[in-house]
Amino acid sequence: MIHHFRAAGVSFVLDSRGAGVPAILHWGRDLGALADADLLTFAEASTPAVSPSSIDSPLRFSVLPGLADGWSGRPAVDIAGPTVAWDRVSTRRDGAVLEISSERVDATATTTLELTPQGVLLVAHRVRNVGDRPLTLVSADVVFPLPERAREVLDFAGLWSRERRPQRTQPGHGVWLRETRHGRGGHDDPFLMVAGVPGFSFRSGEVWSTHVAWSGDTRQFVERAALGRTVLGAGERFDPVTLAPGEQYTSPTVVATWSGEGLDGLSDRLHPWVRSWSTIRSPRPVTLNTWEAVYFDHSLERLEPLVARAAEVGVERFVLDDGWFQGRLDDRRALGDWTVDLAKWPTGLHPLAALVEDAGMQFGLWVEPEMVSVDSDLARAHPDWLLTSAEGLTWRWQHVLDVANPAVEQYLFERIDALLTEYRIAYLKWDHNRDLLVSTTRPQVEALYRLLDRVRAAHPGVEIESCASGGGRIDLEILRRVDRVWTSDTNDPLERQRIQRWTGIVVPPEYLGSHVGDARAHTTGRVAELGFRLATALFGHAGIESDLTRVSAADLAALRTWTALFTHHRGLLHHGRTVRVDSADPAVMIHSVVAHDLGEAICSYAVLEGADAALAEPLRFAGLDPDRRYTVTAVDVGAPAMSLQDAPPPWLVEGVTLLGSVLMQVGLPMPLLSPGNAVVLRAVAS
Ligand code: DGJ
Repeated sequence: MIHHFRAAGVSFVLDSRGAGVPAILHWGRDLGALADADLLTFAEASTPAVSPSSIDSPLRFSVLPGLADGWSGRPAVDIAGPTVAWDRVSTRRDGAVLEISSERVDATATTTLELTPQGVLLVAHRVRNVGDRPLTLVSADVVFPLPERAREVLDFAGLWSRERRPQRTQPGHGVWLRETRHGRGGHDDPFLMVAGVPGFSFRSGEVWSTHVAWSGDTRQFVERAALGRTVLGAGERFDPVTLAPGEQYTSPTVVATWSGEGLDGLSDRLHPWVRSWSTIRSPRPVTLNTWEAVYFDHSLERLEPLVARAAEVGVERFVLDDGWFQGRLDDRRALGDWTVDLAKWPTGLHPLAALVEDAGMQFGLWVEPEMVSVDSDLARAHPDWLLTSAEGLTWRWQHVLDVANPAVEQYLFERIDALLTEYRIAYLKWDHNRDLLVSTTRPQVEALYRLLDRVRAAHPGVEIESCASGGGRIDLEILRRVDRVWTSDTNDPLERQRIQRWTGIVVPPEYLGSHVGDARAHTTGRVAELGFRLATALFGHAGIESDLTRVSAADLAALRTWTALFTHHRGLLHHGRTVRVDSADPAVMIHSVVAHDLGEAICSYAVLEGADAALAEPLRFAGLDPDRRYTVTAVDVGAPAMSLQDAPPPWLVEGVTLLGSVLMQVGLPMPLLSPGNAVVLRAVAS
C-alpha cells in the first residue's frame, strides 16, 4: 500500500508495501491527486540504482533507518547491542494519521505520523521493551530524507538577551549537529533547523524544517552521507536509557514543516496550526511588568504611583514581578518560600491588587516554582528536595527543586493554588532562571508539564507566561500549556527587532511578550529613540517595562497614543498573516501583518544600522492583492522616527493610493531614517 497524505499544498508519500518499515518517498510540494496506479508506478520508479561496494540491494530509506537496512548514517531509533532488523510491520491509517508498528524480537517501535490540515507534519515514536532483559535505548529521533538540493542549513544560536541568532552553513559530508544540555531550551536553543535550496529567504526558496516540541534537551541535525542521501533529523537528547521489560519511551513530537515559499511559508503553516489549538481566550491586554521599573524595591508606597500612571496610559494588566515573597530582598535568597513578605506587604498583596483592579486593570504575579534558594525556609526544611546538590554550582545563586518528587509537586501546587485562590490573579509569569546542569532532565520536564496542567485545570481562567531568563523556554509543547512567552530579557529595540523576527517564524505574534523599555536599555546600555521602541513593541503582545513615575509628560502622552493604537489594531496584529519582506540591505527590517481578506496591512520599516547608500531602497510590500487599490499612510505610533534628509518622499506627507501590484513590484520610496529608527505604515484597500 502506498500512503499519500495531502494538505495545504504539501504531499507526504510512504511506501508500506512489503515486509519492511515503510519508506519515505516524498515530503514536499503537493503532487496532486495521484491515482493508485500512478502511486504504484511512482513507488516502483523510485527504486535507486545499486552502487558498487555497497549493500547488494537498492537502499530504502525507511521511517526507522538503521544499520539493518544498510543505512550507515545516524539511525533514528537506536538500541544498543546486536543489529536487529525491524520486521512484522503493520500500519493503521485513520484519515490524516498513520500509525506504524514495527517489531523486533526484543522491542516494538510505534511511529505516529500526522499531516495537519495546515500541512504540518507531526511525528513521534514510542519504543517498548517487549523482551525479558533490560534494553538500552540510545536515541529515538525522527529522520527525513531530503532532496540533495537542500544544501543550505539555517539554525539558531544565542545567549542571554540575544536569543535566536541565526546561523547559516552549507555542510559538506558529515553531520551538522545541534544538541542542548540545559534542561530547558536555553538561550542558544537551535529552535528550528531549516534545510533549503541555497539562498532561501523569507519570501522565497524551498525549505524543510524541524522543531522539537519539548521543553528539555533536544537534538537536531542535518547529515549528508556519502551514500547519497541528505537527512534532517530531530528528537530529544538523552543519555542512553535503560528500559526494563515492559517499559516504554515516548519521544516528543517533532514538528516538520515544508515550504515552497521561503521562511514565511513556514509561518503560513505553523501560525494557523498553533492558532487552531491556542489556549488564548481573549484579546491580549496591554501589560505593565514591574521588573525594570522597581526590581526588588517593593512597597505599596513605591508601587501606588506606578499603578496610577499605568492606568493613565492605557495599561490593562499590571504584573508584580520578582521581590514580593517572604525574605526576597535580592536574587540570592528566598526562592521556594511562596508566601507574601509581610515586611514589604504587611496586609498581603490585597491593597495592591485592589488598587490595580480599581484602576480597571487585571492583576498578574511572578513566580519561579521549579527553583529554590539555599537560603530559604523550604531548603532548610527539605534539603532532600533539591535536584541539584546544595554544595554544587549555583546559577543566579539558586538551585533546582526535584519537581518529579511527588511531595515537591504537591507543595508547589498547593502554594500556587493558595495564591490563585486568595488573590484574583489573571496571569502568572512563570520563570525559570537557570540550567539544570544534570544529565537526565526528562523527569523534570514531565513534572513541569504535570504541574502546569494541574494549575490550569484548577484555575482555567488564569493565563500563564513561559519565561526563562527571557526566551530560554520557548517551544511548541510548552505553548500548549501557556498563553504567552517572554521573548527575551532585553527590551533594547535593536536586539528585539531581530529576536522577534526569528522567534516569530514559529510562534505567532500574539504570544510574544514585547515591552517598551527605558530609553537606555537595562541590558545593553544602548539608548534608543522612543519612536523606535514603540514601533518595535507594537508587533507582539505589547506592554511596558519602565518606571512610569520617572517618565516625562511628553513620553506618557506618547505611550497613551501607542496603547490606543495597539488596542485599536490588535485584532489585525494578532490574527493576521505575518509577512516579512527581504531587503537587499541587511540593516533594513521590514515586517508586516496582512489581514486574511487582504483588505488591510500594517507594516514596520526599520533601519538598524547606518545605511548602505544615500538613498534607501524603496519598500516593496508583500502579501497584498495585486488587483486592489490601497491607500498607504504613515501611522503615528506616539513619537516620531528620526531621519536625516532635506525633504521626505512627497507621498509620505499625505499618503498615496496605488494598486497592490505597484506597491509590491515597485514599492514606495522610504524616508532616510537614522540608524535605530522605524516608521509604521498602514495600507487599507478601497
Ligand atoms: C528573569 C526574567 O526574565 C525577568 O523578566 C525577571 O522576571 C527576572 N527574572 C526576575 O527575577
